[in-house]
Amino acid sequence: MYAQALDQKDKAPSVVEDPEHLARFEARCAAEEKIEPKDWMPEGYRRTLIRQISQHAHSEIIGMQPEGNWVTRAPSLRRKAVLLAKIQDEGGHGLYLYSAAETLGISREELYEQLLSGRAKYSSIFNYPTLTWADMGAVGWLVDGAAIMNQIALCRCSYGPYARAMIRICKEESFHQRQGYEIMLTLAKGTPAQKEMAQDALNRWWWPCLMMFGPPDAVSEHSQESMRWKIKRFSNDALRQKFIDATVPQGHYLGLTFPDPDLKFNEATGHWEIGAIDWSEFKRVLSGDGPCNRQRMRHRRQVEADGAWVRDAARAHAEKRAAREAAAKIAAE
Ligand SMILES: [Fe+2]
Ligand SMILES: [Fe+2]
Repeated sequence: MYAQALDQKDKAPSVVEDPEHLARFEARCAAEEKIEPKDWMPEGYRRTLIRQISQHAHSEIIGMQPEGNWVTRAPSLRRKAVLLAKIQDEGGHGLYLYSAAETLGISREELYEQLLSGRAKYSSIFNYPTLTWADMGAVGWLVDGAAIMNQIALCRCSYGPYARAMIRICKEESFHQRQGYEIMLTLAKGTPAQKEMAQDALNRWWWPCLMMFGPPDAVSEHSQESMRWKIKRFSNDALRQKFIDATVPQGHYLGLTFPDPDLKFNEATGHWEIGAIDWSEFKRVLSGDGPCNRQRMRHRRQVEADGAWVRDAARAHAEKRAAREAAAKIAAE
């Protein structure tokens, strides 16, 4: 789902770039030209994109878990079919994005290893539990809704393969957001217990969703360079504000309240203003101490181990076939 501004420091040593190449590259970015895999690019650009695209891919894959938790308990066949389709979309987004990352010269195996060893991050939002059916509504409406804000901007990212992947992904995310809102609408117009369940889900997901946009601009380390290179089009705070302005009226239409006593509409600016975000929670969850971090990684490692025999069998089959084809070629000569 989710390109999150995680702002980790790159550990690799900085490379001295050829000034002529660099100047031409910067000019291409400024002229809104797309950068393609075989084009020259600065090491920092490549590294930033590998980090961002792979975090995004990992987030799609890990993001399947909180929703997978409700497949067997969906309240109707229709709900189950829709939820399954959505989760399958997320798996597809992950594979699509791993392919985009591979065009930058990193292997799929290395990307998986980075996730499984804990060296790579994924969006902190997926370390929260999905406690009730209403969470399927809140996740679609809010988590996918926040993801769209980020991803619409990424459709114009300077790196061609990433930008093109985003166009298709955004279409599916838009379906995800609507299916989530439809669940919320059904619950909000249902029995008092159902409405309470919807309210409880909104209460739990609102603040973590606002954190999905990453740290405030004032402390965001990578922003300036990413903006100049047209990887990022809007700052974390600008995207967060867009999300708040779009989402608050939707929540009010549901007849629900937001868990923020300081939330108010500023007539002069035309924007909704929120109270202070608890960034210590964001840091805690990101550094591995969220409610479900260990569970998510344990499950991912288990799935990887369970699937090993399938990969081994596919590899053995491919080798056998290649040997058979080579033998047939020799016999024909
Ligand atoms: Fe997705
Ligand atoms: Fe999604």
